[in-house]
Amino acid sequence: MTGPLPGDSIKTYVLRRGRMRDAQRNDYAALSPQFCIPFSRGLLDFQGVFGNSNPVVMEIGFGMGGATGEIAEKMPETNFLGIEVHTPGVARLLGDIRRKGLGNIRIIEHDALEVCAVMVPRESLAGVHLFFPDPWPKMKHHKRRLVTESRVALIRSLLAPGGYFYFITDWEEYARSSLEILTAAPDLRNPYPGFAPTQDWRPQTKFEGRGRKEERAIWELYFVKKGLGDYHTALRPSPAAEK
Ligand SMILES: C[S@@+](CC[C@H](N)C(=O)[O-])C[C@H]1O[C@@H](n2cnc3c(N)ncnc32)[C@H](O)[C@@H]1O
Repeated sequence: MTGPLPGDSIKTYVLRRGRMRDAQRNDYAALSPQFCIPFSRGLLDFQGVFGNSNPVVMEIGFGMGGATGEIAEKMPETNFLGIEVHTPGVARLLGDIRRKGLGNIRIIEHDALEVCAVMVPRESLAGVHLFFPDPWPKMKHHKRRLVTESRVALIRSLLAPGGYFYFITDWEEYARSSLEILTAAPDLRNPYPGFAPTQDWRPQTKFEGRGRKEERAIWELYFVKKGLGDYHTALRPSPAAEK
């Protein structure tokens, strides 16, 4: 396979090496069979994967997965499909799944764009989280960004009507060009006048912490797929699960 979309063989990541601690290696070996879904060319059946028909939110590039675990813990009635290529991050999130006893996360360790292209059914997702993707600041690298017109078209096609796309970055130029791309998408609407406020349910991510330390502003975009349905207000942490 050359890439997730016809003519798109450009990777949006560079695989980082990273050593795993013994505990992470153990979690990876013990828990992958239960919580990781191997990449394959068949469409996922979410009911079979999660064992229920709760809404599914996909996260692209969860990094070390700290925020993913926290959000999934706050929203036990939402299923989370996390996609990441960095093995130590996968192991780290598996550890959180074990420590927090989470039943609502599944992980695919593979290129998210390929997963989107062949595994995720059209109009099946209640939401997509894209938190602090690599900004690829140099102009010659912009083609590696996850938010480009064609990649956003693929992501939008997976959102159910009323489903949301939540993108956050600390790179202003990436934020502004993404605002233009999303605003031009005919099947999305922006519930806010421009950039979105921070959704009150989301914790700070690891990369966000770095950006804030370097005093970079945080830019948030929150768009909703047009049509009947409202995951924007429906998917909130249940009061019982909030700490
Ligand atoms: C800058 S990090 C941000 C991690 C995390 N979201 C955070 O805010 O701390 C971006 C992550 O996206 C992952 N990534 C980039 N492109 C990806 C792709 N096509 N499929 C899966 N993961 C990807 C990288 O491996 C990396 O861990």
